[in-house]
Amino acid sequence: MEKFVINGGNRLNGDVFISGAKNAAVAIIPAAILGEGPCVLENVPNINDVTVCLKILSEMGAEVRLLNKNTIQIDAKHIRDTVVPYEMARSIRASYYFLGTLLTKFNHAKVSMPGGCALGDRPIDQHLKCFKALGANYSIEHGMVEISAEKLAGTQIYFDKITVGATINAMLAAVKVEGLTILENAAREPHIVDLANFLNSMGADIMGAGTDVIKIRGVNRLVGTNYAIIPDQIESGTYMVAAAATGGDVTIRNIIPKHLEPISSKLTKMGVLIEESDDSLRVVGSNRPYERMNLKTMPHPGFPTDMQPQFAALLTLSNGTSIITESIYEDRFRYVDELRRMGADISVDGKVAVIEGVEKLTGAPVKAADLRAGAALIIAGLCAKGSTEIEDIYHIERGYEDMAFKLRAIGANIEKRKFPGPDAMRIAL
Ligand code: EPZ
Repeated sequence: MEKFVINGGNRLNGDVFISGAKNAAVAIIPAAILGEGPCVLENVPNINDVTVCLKILSEMGAEVRLLNKNTIQIDAKHIRDTVVPYEMARSIRASYYFLGTLLTKFNHAKVSMPGGCALGDRPIDQHLKCFKALGANYSIEHGMVEISAEKLAGTQIYFDKITVGATINAMLAAVKVEGLTILENAAREPHIVDLANFLNSMGADIMGAGTDVIKIRGVNRLVGTNYAIIPDQIESGTYMVAAAATGGDVTIRNIIPKHLEPISSKLTKMGVLIEESDDSLRVVGSNRPYERMNLKTMPHPGFPTDMQPQFAALLTLSNGTSIITESIYEDRFRYVDELRRMGADISVDGKVAVIEGVEKLTGAPVKAADLRAGAALIIAGLCAKGSTEIEDIYHIERGYEDMAFKLRAIGANIEKRKFPGPDAMRIAL
């Protein structure tokens, strides 16, 4: 079993280089099968969720070549299979993007119900609503979602709630559908814009991505392309919070500062100094406790739910009482019990967490419940007095490339160590 072992107290200083966006990569990789020629993807993060997506492609007959650690060539001309392997598909959330792409490519798809972080109820009713509105039929049997269509036709779809996944799946399913498809109440995250830009570079005709109305005019063919994935907004934000939490001075490089505005504005309000350049942000923390803060997670451009646990870790050491309202998920406070083991004073009532700032945190053995919960525990461990051992770090490695290495490079005392015990499932490409 592998754990992260952290000895807290070091101020982080120096430069950290951000990888490609996980939630863009896991949508663009399935979309790459829609091209008649090969696609070359650059700035692909070397993380487990990407490895699983590439393994699924290989199992289905696509040719996947690693040109280097972060550049991948995908040639889907030999794909004939429209069924995604069950065990792999259920290990990640993004496997459901193969529904939209395989429906477009073959008019049929069969994929297991998705997995991913356990954050409460995560239905896919809006995805199914889109497929049905375009003219497909679906069934859910034995844990598999199957969709098929004789003919698809452009239509107007209004999402009952803002959903990143369903917005992406609708774009993937509609991109070659004859006529005009209009998505209303669409999600506006940066990775939705990145997918639209990728598809348009293949010859698609998608307008309005990044707004709540996306118009997709179906095209007859898509061609192969070369494309660089955007930097990861949440990885960037995680290192910004780690720099602030340790009172350090860190420059976050290879980023798009505009994507980080919801995060930068909250940190600035708490008393963190942030200096913006074209493709970097300098984060200068303070050794005094920060101001308390009220946070409510919202769809982009609001404060991102994927940064909520990390800010909670930071707020455990702030002045006074902070309130976090989680409006996206039913249960995104599973990290709270673990922070309490380290001395945090947090009470949770449904979707609201109340955090009383404390003088200090102390290191303890803790467990990562999911990807961003794990990131929160790392941030807490970096600030805590003494040693913190984090178990189940496979959650963290699903979404953060070389996190221990990147943190060590800016002065953290963190290492990945092997301990007796079972190892989590790892998919080797
Ligand atoms: C994506 O999940 C991300 N995952 C999540 O990131 C992120 O938290 C989320 O978007 C919101 O930004 C990937 O991109 C792989 P949603 P997704 O559909 O698409 C409900 C991380 O840490 N909903 O926007 O599953 C749903 O239950 C992960 O990187 C329906 O009710 O999120 C949730 O409450 C965690 N019906 C809300 O909408 C549906 O059909 C938002 O879900 C779909 C969603």
